[in-house]
Amino acid sequence: MKPFCVALAGLGTVGGGVGQLLQTNANVIAARAGRELKLVAVSARDRSKARAMDLDSIAWEPSALALAERPDVDAIVEVIGGAEGIARALCEKALANGKTIVTANKALLATHGERLAQLAEDNGATLCFEAAVCGGIPIIKTMREALAGNRITRVQGLLNGTCNFILTRMSHDGMAFDEALDLAQKRGFAEADPTADVDGLDARHKLALLSTLAFGVRPIVDSISLEGIRRLTPLDFELADNLGFSIKLLGFAQRTAQGLEQRVSPCLVPLSSPLASVDDEVNAVEIDGDAVGPLTLIGRGAGAAATASAIVGDLIDCARGMAGLPWGVPTKDLSEMKALSAEEQKSRWYIRLDVQDRAGVLAELADILRDEDLSVETLWQQARSAAQEPVPVMIVTHEASAAALARAVVRFAALGAVRTPPLALRIEPEL
Ligand code: NDP
Ligand code: HSE
Repeated sequence: MKPFCVALAGLGTVGGGVGQLLQTNANVIAARAGRELKLVAVSARDRSKARAMDLDSIAWEPSALALAERPDVDAIVEVIGGAEGIARALCEKALANGKTIVTANKALLATHGERLAQLAEDNGATLCFEAAVCGGIPIIKTMREALAGNRITRVQGLLNGTCNFILTRMSHDGMAFDEALDLAQKRGFAEADPTADVDGLDARHKLALLSTLAFGVRPIVDSISLEGIRRLTPLDFELADNLGFSIKLLGFAQRTAQGLEQRVSPCLVPLSSPLASVDDEVNAVEIDGDAVGPLTLIGRGAGAAATASAIVGDLIDCARGMAGLPWGVPTKDLSEMKALSAEEQKSRWYIRLDVQDRAGVLAELADILRDEDLSVETLWQQARSAAQEPVPVMIVTHEASAAALARAVVRFAALGAVRTPPLALRIEPEL
C-alpha cells in the first residue's frame, strides 16, 4: 500500500518528539497503520538549528504554509503553537485543501476549533487533536468514542503539567515559585510564554475542549472563570497539609439543572482524593458518566515523548481512515448552554491574610465575616516573631457562595491592618 505521507510544521519540543518516534518505532507504527508513515517534509524558523531527528532526505519548506500545497503530503502535524498567525493560517489552508491536520495546539482549537472543525467537515478533511489535552493521556478518544454512550455530568482534572510540577516542587521541596518554573521550562513542559501555564490560560483552553466533548457545547473560553497559581506561598501548602489537603490547579466543568459550571483555579483537594497524590508534570482527568460511573485517567500530560505518543496515535487512525468527526457530533449540532457565573458557585473556602498583630484586628475580620454571612469553621493565627512584622491568619469557612466570599475579600483588603492582598482558595469536597 502507498505510504501515508506526513509533514511536520514545527520542530521544537513536540515536533522533535514526533520526528523521533516516527523514526525509532517505524516498524510497529507501519504494522498498526497498515502502511508506512513517511515523513516527507518539515518546516521551522531556523534551518541551521540542531534537531532531535535525522532530517536527511526530508524536504525543508521555508514557509510552513507551503506544506498545505504539497501534493505529496497527506497529513500535516501542526506543532508551531499559538491561537493566531502561521498556525491558524496553515490549518485553515490545509483543511480547505482536504488535507489531514493533527495538532497539539489547544490555544488554536479552543479559540477557532469550531470553525476549523466545520472547515474539515465541509472539505472531507480530518482534524485530530488528541495531543492538545493532557499530552499522552488518551482523553479525547476516551470521551468521544469509548464513552459515547454516556451522558457525562462532570469532568475535572489536573490539566497543566507545568503547574502541577511547580506546585509539587513547592509543596514537597519548599522550592520557590520562580525556581520551580525555571526547572519546568528546562524540561520542556512549559508553553513558549509560561504565563499561559501559571495564570491558568492553558488549562482553560483544555477545559473548553473537554466541555465541548462532554456536553456537546460550543467551545467558549471566556465562560470559564480563571485564576492562576502565582500567589501561593510555601505556608499555604503547610497549612493545607495540616488541614488534610493538597493544593492543585483544578479544571472543573459540571452540568447542573441551572446551567454549566466551569472554572480553573487553585484548590484545596482532600488528601484522600486520587488527584491529591498526582505529582510533577503528571496530569489526571476524572469523568463521571451515567453508565460508566466515575473514571480517572492519569498519565504524563506534557513533554516531547508523551505528546508525540498522542500525535502518532492520531496519525495511525488517519492512515487507516479511522478518524471520526472532530467533536464526535457534526459541528453544526454543538449547542449553547447557560454558563453559571463564578459568583453563583458555592464552596467551603480557605482564606489567608497577612495582618498587623494588634488588639481589635480579629474583631474587624469577624465583623466582615458576620456581615457577609460567612460562617467560620477553623481560625488560626501564627505567633509573631518581631513586633512590627505582619502575621498570617488562616480562616476556613463553611460552605458559602463565591459572591459573598468575593465581597468579604474586597473588604478585608481595604482594612488598614491587612498588609498584602488576601488569598482565597476553594476547598473541594471529600468524595
Ligand atoms: P516549541 O517552542 O518547542 O517549538 C515550536 C516550533 O515551531 C519550533 O520548532 C519553531 O521553529 C517553530 N516555529 C515557530 N514559528 C514558526 C513559523 N513561523 N514557521 C514555522 N515554524 C515555526 O513549542 P512546543 O513544541 O513545546 O509546542 C508546540 C505546540 O504543542 C504548542 O501548541 C503547545 O501548546 C503544544 N503542546 C506542547 C506540549 C509540551 O509539552 N511542550 C505538550 C502538549 C502540547 P524553530 O525551532 O526554528 O525556532
Ligand atoms: N504547557 C503545557 C503543560 C504542555 O504544562 O501542561 C502540555 O499541554
